[in-house]
Amino acid sequence: MITASDTKLPRISTALPGPKSQLVIDYDKKYMSPSYMRDYPFVAERGYGAIVEDPDGNAFLDFAAGIAVCSTGHCHPKVVEAIQKQAAELIHIAGNDFYHRHMPQLAERLVKTMPTPQGYRVFFGNSGTEAVEGAIKLARYATKRDKLIAFYGCFHGRTLGSLSLTASKSTQRKGFGTLLGGVEHIPYPYAYRCALGHTKETCGGEIIELLEQQLFKRLFAPEEVAAIIVEPIQGEGGFIPAPAFFLQELQRISNRHGIVLIVDEVQAGMGRTGKWWAYDHAGITPDIVLTAKGIASGMPISAFIAKESIMQWKPGAHGSTYGGNPVCIAAALATMELIEGGLMANAKKVGDYIFSKINEWPQRFKTVGEVRGKGLMIGVEFVRDQKTKEKAADLRDRVVDNAFHRGLLTLGSGENSIRLSPPLIIDEEQAEGAIRIMEESIREAEKSL
Ligand SMILES: Cc1ncc(COP(=O)(O)O)c(C=O)c1O
Repeated sequence: MITASDTKLPRISTALPGPKSQLVIDYDKKYMSPSYMRDYPFVAERGYGAIVEDPDGNAFLDFAAGIAVCSTGHCHPKVVEAIQKQAAELIHIAGNDFYHRHMPQLAERLVKTMPTPQGYRVFFGNSGTEAVEGAIKLARYATKRDKLIAFYGCFHGRTLGSLSLTASKSTQRKGFGTLLGGVEHIPYPYAYRCALGHTKETCGGEIIELLEQQLFKRLFAPEEVAAIIVEPIQGEGGFIPAPAFFLQELQRISNRHGIVLIVDEVQAGMGRTGKWWAYDHAGITPDIVLTAKGIASGMPISAFIAKESIMQWKPGAHGSTYGGNPVCIAAALATMELIEGGLMANAKKVGDYIFSKINEWPQRFKTVGEVRGKGLMIGVEFVRDQKTKEKAADLRDRVVDNAFHRGLLTLGSGENSIRLSPPLIIDEEQAEGAIRIMEESIREAEKSL
């Protein structure tokens, strides 16, 4: 609900965290698992548009968006209306056991975003990691092979199957024993740190060679490989886009050897980069596409969309009690309508605007190594020295903290980058506000060097 005190830009009126926020933090410390990572003490109370307020009435511009989830902003009236209407009609009926029209309706909607809008089938889950788990199972089932190839720096989730693929931070894997066997990781094309000096367009040729000439010849033959799983833009890894040719090469190799190409669009997809899917920028046709986060503006639902020729498993081979919940689907349908009806175009427009303003940060700030990304998936990498590219994780943390104290929510990503992933509804005024706060925050952090 919009109130008279609503704002489009940050408004901070207490020390942070404020007294009411502090009570929530103390309460949380008493009961919650210590594995949650809260990098700074923000407590959410109410959200609208790109703003989220804390219990003390401070308003923050949300460039984290619940980890790129609140694609239509907080509590978009059309999404709220769809949720309320559906909640009054039918909250749950297990799609595993019974039919309801919402499931094929959202499935059809998703299939229409594929490169060829037919010949696909959809499975619904509740979270990104579940989509990954389902895709691993499906790829193994369809190919009757079990080996999997993923990339260093990738994040695919925290359940044991997806964690076996995840190679982002060792703390995420440490202490959990032996993970899934048959998984190999190869480098991701990280142009800024390309040892061979390649550019954003050309980095990665040697990785393809490594895959074909080393891995396939020395570790396991391609006919043993069920799937290659790739993020077209690494999310947790630092918002690093893979060059188009690299994704095209993965497709060529997969096609050649009957390997399933799984593209994880959990963070990059749903219009954030200015197209439905980040892989659309490379013009490829993956075998399985994974989506979650931005699909339903915050309601928990995920999906994997697979070529019909691959999704041929038998009844009972896979299932979910809650996956495809009618209320979540109503939110997803409303979200996709809004994305198609203008937010995807806005992500490109405002994203281009932001890049036009921040592309020269490496020239203006000695600690900014690189600015990268697409649309409203924007990464900023911090270094101690632009020549040596020594990573400046502590400085990055200070920038994140400085931004918080000025009313801008951001998230760290990779070892030393910040990700800016605002709702797709932001306008130029809000973009300007965020840029100004980021610049002040970087300047202040640099003073401490
Ligand atoms: C690319 C990618 N895949 C999978 C996941 C796992 O999603 P979830 O946290 O919903 O399980 C994430 C989460 O950040 C992600 O970024």
